[in-house]
Amino acid sequence: MLDAAPTNRPDLPPEIARRRTFAIISHPDAGKTTLTEKFLLFGGAIQMAGQVRAKGEARRTRSDFMQMEKDRGISVSASAMSFDYQRFRFNLVDTPGHSDFSEDTYRTLTAVDAAIMVIDGAKGVESQTRKLFEVCRMRDLPILTFCNKMDRESRDVFEIVDEIQENLAIDVTPASWPIGIGQDFLGCYDMLNDRLELMDRADRNRVGTTVEITGLDDPKLADHVPEHLLATLREEVEMARALLPPLDRQAFAEGTMTPIWFGSAINSFGVKELMDGIANFGPEPQPTSAEPRQIAPEEQKVSGFVFKVQANMDPKHRDRVAFLRMSSGHFTRGMKLTHVRSKKPMTISNPVLFLASDRELADEAWAGDIIGIPNHGQLRIGDTLTEGEALKVTGIPSFAPELLQNCRAGDPMKAKHLEKALMQFAEEGAAKVFKPTLASGFIVGVVGQLQFEVLASRIELEYGLPVRFEPSQFTSARWVHGPKAKVEAFAEKNKGHMAEDNDGDLVYLTRLQWDIDRVERDYPDLTLSATKEMM
Ligand code: G4P
Repeated sequence: MLDAAPTNRPDLPPEIARRRTFAIISHPDAGKTTLTEKFLLFGGAIQMAGQVRAKGEARRTRSDFMQMEKDRGISVSASAMSFDYQRFRFNLVDTPGHSDFSEDTYRTLTAVDAAIMVIDGAKGVESQTRKLFEVCRMRDLPILTFCNKMDRESRDVFEIVDEIQENLAIDVTPASWPIGIGQDFLGCYDMLNDRLELMDRADRNRVGTTVEITGLDDPKLADHVPEHLLATLREEVEMARALLPPLDRQAFAEGTMTPIWFGSAINSFGVKELMDGIANFGPEPQPTSAEPRQIAPEEQKVSGFVFKVQANMDPKHRDRVAFLRMSSGHFTRGMKLTHVRSKKPMTISNPVLFLASDRELADEAWAGDIIGIPNHGQLRIGDTLTEGEALKVTGIPSFAPELLQNCRAGDPMKAKHLEKALMQFAEEGAAKVFKPTLASGFIVGVVGQLQFEVLASRIELEYGLPVRFEPSQFTSARWVHGPKAKVEAFAEKNKGHMAEDNDGDLVYLTRLQWDIDRVERDYPDLTLSATKEMM
């Protein structure tokens, strides 16, 4: 049986213990949007299915950029959604699904305590799922798996489980077991509670029916499951229990074991069981890594860190919203917090909570919550806010871009405007902007080609500036670290390769790995780094 207790950590303040902050990772098309929508539906945050998408459409028609998003079928901006489920508060942080946005995704995953991995039952573990999973693994995030689209022809269940175990090197424990496949799919046997969950094919928004039974030998089973499926079910569950490990909460919490639920998001099937899994297994808000000490969620003093900045969420207002993950304490509106990087106080007078259908002013927030802070650029990714203590949250990296291009304004008179626009996107974390020491203009670095197109359309749309991206002579950028005098001497000798990034840090630009190797050989006191911590 699942725990009846509302928390696994009775020592935490109840408001913190009831919070669950998580993200969904998946390959495009596996069903993330559909699952999100059903979460919101069962969380009472929306009244009918279709609202999330409908809202998406309405937003999209506003701009060509959004048209592009629609055409490509990707979600390019991450957001957070809060809703209640039973006595729990769920904070779902959306991750952009496209691989070109992996850096943003990585940082989003620093703000959550767990992830749901959605896979398509017919396709198994796909490339994007694997990449995102690796990011979760780097943080030892607990993972709950949802195997979707079981109403359609899918792969053999043992084969799916094997593939996850082998491909992702994680133990899999079945939380449910499907009865029948494709057209024959009836529902699941709940392995954790020994009961039957039956799918309603007639009404997609209706949660399945639960049939209480005493176990696989209960004669009541035959009233609901046809003979041929029942024999297979008994055999498979027996095999699964013999071959697969039982749920080990410790291993789940450490990210080495994932419970798997089988279901069909579009038919609302298996979704509640998954939500119960998040509620029951958690985890509740976890400590945040910081210098010089870790931050525990139950600390009375409020602290939090910025993991995402989104500019121009409303093009009419040119606002910028910093997404803050609360690390500790109980925040109330109007509180004065210290912006640790600048040591300046900031009064947070209009924090925003992202509810499914709208944003609304947050009167309070607890460790685990995500709030949006409108600001004029003071808040950057990686910033820490506290009640005065000089704490710096760590582990929010910035990656060296994999593609570099020169960016030119269509109208040369507008170069200053272009700089402003580029710097704003750099602060959002949407691109790196480099100012070469010798050449004029800007070099923009991104992780995937698509980001250049998105940037070009956003600059035109949000700043009225047509721009061109052109090939650059460089393909790689490395941050240069070392003793000041050595760095300066190196920069002087290699002026044609040097640039400053948007934070004013020195980078070495090159097109050859050979160059990087040579620098490392010739300048043993220097390191060329492909990542830097956000300051
Ligand atoms: P994504 O966000 O991960 O990209 O996936 P999304 O939810 O948009 O789902 C991708 C497609 O899979 C959608 O179909 C959706 O309806 C379908 N789908 C989601 N869950 C299930 C399920 O449990 N069973 C089946 N059979 N299909 C499912 P589409 O045709 O691309 O879009 P739509 O016209 O249905 O909206």
